[in-house]
Amino acid sequence: MVAEKDVILVTCATGKAGFECCKALVDDGFDVYGCTRNAAGGKKLAAINVKPVVCNYTCEIPKALAESGAKRLLFITDFFRAAKNKAEVEFEHGKHAVDAAKAAGVVHTIFISVNDADKWPAECDHLLAKPRVEAYLKASGIRYSLLGPVAFFENFDDSANFNPLTKGKLYFLDEGTVPFCATYDIGRAAAVQFKSPERWLGKKLDVCGQLADLQTCAAALEKVGGFPVKSGLAMPIWARRLFLRDLHYMCLHYMSPGVSASPSEFKKHVPGAMDAEAWFRHHNRYANGEPIVGNTTPPSKGNMSATIGIALAVAVASSLVYYVNRH
Ligand SMILES: NC(=O)c1ccc[n+]([C@@H]2O[C@H](COP(=O)([O-])OP(=O)(O)OC[C@H]3O[C@@H](n4cnc5c(N)ncnc54)[C@H](OP(=O)(O)O)[C@@H]3O)[C@@H](O)[C@H]2O)c1
Repeated sequence: MVAEKDVILVTCATGKAGFECCKALVDDGFDVYGCTRNAAGGKKLAAINVKPVVCNYTCEIPKALAESGAKRLLFITDFFRAAKNKAEVEFEHGKHAVDAAKAAGVVHTIFISVNDADKWPAECDHLLAKPRVEAYLKASGIRYSLLGPVAFFENFDDSANFNPLTKGKLYFLDEGTVPFCATYDIGRAAAVQFKSPERWLGKKLDVCGQLADLQTCAAALEKVGGFPVKSGLAMPIWARRLFLRDLHYMCLHYMSPGVSASPSEFKKHVPGAMDAEAWFRHHNRYANGEPIVGNTTPPSKGNMSATIGIALAVAVASSLVYYVNRH
């Protein structure tokens, strides 16, 4: 049972990670406030019993802390949208969160960073701000802890990046072994840290539910969804190398040297951490809104050559969009 005073403010609360973190914290009994810039986000948050604070987390966290009265802050910075693919801007957003926490006398600040923050290759632009924010937080003198999530299972259902989860199919940028976590488990890990600050202050917990390749994940979806699942690369390797340089180098890093995060270590702290099978059950929806579990309508067969044509067109279009956004 959580004490009445345990009010938490979450940034990026409507995002993939923030939203599921909010859910996990609410499920654990915390009183959760979430930052969103607009009323639509507020409605989404209210539906999961999160109190919305309408603010822009990149520059208005003092206002959000004052409005919520929260003395605990869980913050994540968004490289892709809010920082517009610029590590320097993402670092400024992180600094803003730390400075705001310090000024408001927040008693425990948790930053959702990334696993092995300082070990990623320089080509991984979207990870470059993370070790800098970690260092700034450490130097600030405030009471903090860190979470180091690995790749989100949510990447399997990412319509915004042309990879919607479709019945009978599973696509990803990498077919090799990748460390995965459910974003809900990032929230569970935050709850663990908020509840035992004496154990976690100044420390980092890597969030990792499973090391798995695409075939293993496809088999998990097959088991949960009840239909055969074809798996494959979301785009050819040459296109990944050419247009998604940062993610390409991330995939190479997974192959060698690999990551230090371990599911067995994480499960010591979050025993119910999800693997792919558990995540598909938890997520329980295809991108078109149909449920995964108990869905008895077979996937549409479609015309094979049409399917290949559409897949190729999507791969080329998504590559171009990424390319334009990042240059
Ligand atoms: N994907 C992975 O596997 C993975 C793994 C580890 C770490 N990460 C890190 O996770 C971060 C992205 O998190 P996510 O996927 O949860 O993000 P997301 O789903 O894209 O959510 C972005 C959030 O940022 C807010 N936002 C968007 N544009 C904004 C703007 N211009 N100004 C202010 N706020 C804005 C949105 O809030 P409103 O629109 O409601 O205001 C939303 O809540 C990245 O920094 C990435 O490095 C990702």
